[in-house]
Amino acid sequence: MTTSDKDQVYIFDTTLRDGEQSPGASMTLEEKLQIAEILDDMGVDIIEAGFPIASNGDFEAVSEIAKKSKNSVIAGLARAIHADIDRCGDAVKHAGKGRIHTFVSTSPIHLQFQMNKSEDQVLDIINDTVTRARNLINDVEWSAMDATRTPIEYLCRCVEAAISCGATTINLPDTVGYATPDEYKQMFADVIARVPNSDKAIFSVHCHDDLGLAVANSLAGVAGGARQIECTLNGLGERAGNAALEEVVMAIRTRSDALPYDCQVNPEYLTRASKMVSAASGFAVQYNKAIVGKNAFAHESGIHQDGMLKNAETYEIMRPEDVGVKATSLVMGKHSGRHAFKDKLKELGFELGDNALQEAFRRFKDLADRKKHVYDEDIEALVENEIAVAGETTKVIALTVIAGTGGPQKAILTMDVNGQHITKEATGDGPVDATFNAIKAIVPHEASLQLYQVHAVTEGTDAQAEVSVRLEANGRISTGKGADTDTLVSSARAYVSAMNKLNLRQQASNPGALQAS
Ligand code: KIV
Ligand code: ZN
Repeated sequence: MTTSDKDQVYIFDTTLRDGEQSPGASMTLEEKLQIAEILDDMGVDIIEAGFPIASNGDFEAVSEIAKKSKNSVIAGLARAIHADIDRCGDAVKHAGKGRIHTFVSTSPIHLQFQMNKSEDQVLDIINDTVTRARNLINDVEWSAMDATRTPIEYLCRCVEAAISCGATTINLPDTVGYATPDEYKQMFADVIARVPNSDKAIFSVHCHDDLGLAVANSLAGVAGGARQIECTLNGLGERAGNAALEEVVMAIRTRSDALPYDCQVNPEYLTRASKMVSAASGFAVQYNKAIVGKNAFAHESGIHQDGMLKNAETYEIMRPEDVGVKATSLVMGKHSGRHAFKDKLKELGFELGDNALQEAFRRFKDLADRKKHVYDEDIEALVENEIAVAGETTKVIALTVIAGTGGPQKAILTMDVNGQHITKEATGDGPVDATFNAIKAIVPHEASLQLYQVHAVTEGTDAQAEVSVRLEANGRISTGKGADTDTLVSSARAYVSAMNKLNLRQQASNPGALQAS
């Protein structure tokens, strides 16, 4: 990456750091690895993989993502503290291309109330910490936290100091989502014009969406001279979130007349990546969300539909397939054979071994018996579920639930636990609670439920319900998913899958109790 590539805009994804930092959005190592892989495949230039000093889990995630990285630069975040920078250096050193991203606040309000430091003291900190980072690695990004509320003269002194000490990227975040597009653009133009060594670094935007201006501000910052955009999939992030990667990328591609920059992200990955982040974070994507919302390409009104049939460009500025939306297609019914099913799986990108294929086919037939129309989305949910539970030693075998106004609701559940079938009954405050209580009666454990979410895979009352369950035990979290036309069966499957991922197992010395390992 060079400072002479003036019209290339680098995409810096921080879903796994700023996104994951938002309350309730924490992800498992496997989920982070999967997301990092798709970001790398889609051509994201820089992936901020985490905050290595924050926890051993974060350190491990950044290190593992760094080891598996292909083309993307892998960045880790570090406060302006030696221990943070060293830990970050240790994590990103495994990457083909690693980056230390260190930051310090520069605004008067942060200096006075958060840091209790003078402007000169903060300048000393910048000199010291950027130098330390540069001694560990060549690629160092420095951020002026709360840059948009920092007086321009002081901001310029800080930026000049960071570049003199070797920072190769300078990020000027709108940390509190306060700036307007004109102000943000002007700030970059002023800093770049005033700082004598500004040509030695790439400038970066980082915008939060508190006023709904994050994407507009990001593009305005680029118009002001920035060439890196920090963003997250689905706009996940603290408070109202960060600028959404999919919106930034599609704005640049769709309006290349007004935004003459190159960005190397392949948008065909956007839909899949968005779904992955939604499933891992447990944050549903709103239906009318730009680019990746369920309705982003739906045309309901008669006038729109009429226009679309005559020429799609009447109401469509992007084609759904450009962002990886596949046309919903009716696949097969109960008469479809194993061969057609296998071909369909191949078309959807799944390759299953013989046993898994047999089981998936059995479940497909079962689904086709119960559901009038089976769509691609149904097959995807079914197979993803099959892959997730393959090899699990604790499984749901049968479930009967008695529900209704009478209460208390009752669940009678049979599970296979290490080859042994165990049946228990439990009551609860509603059928889902009764089902989860029955699981706990069969496999006693201390894990707590963090998230329970249901969504319909397709339209109609016979749609499969896809359930996500997140459990926490001893500081570890896991998310399980289940899909079935019966919401309670998918709930039980999702719960058991999350439990299996936490590896809740029977202790030899205390067969009644289970613990997280
Ligand atoms: O919003 C912000 O200022 C940040 C920094 C750590 C870059 O996320
Ligand atoms: Zn941020």
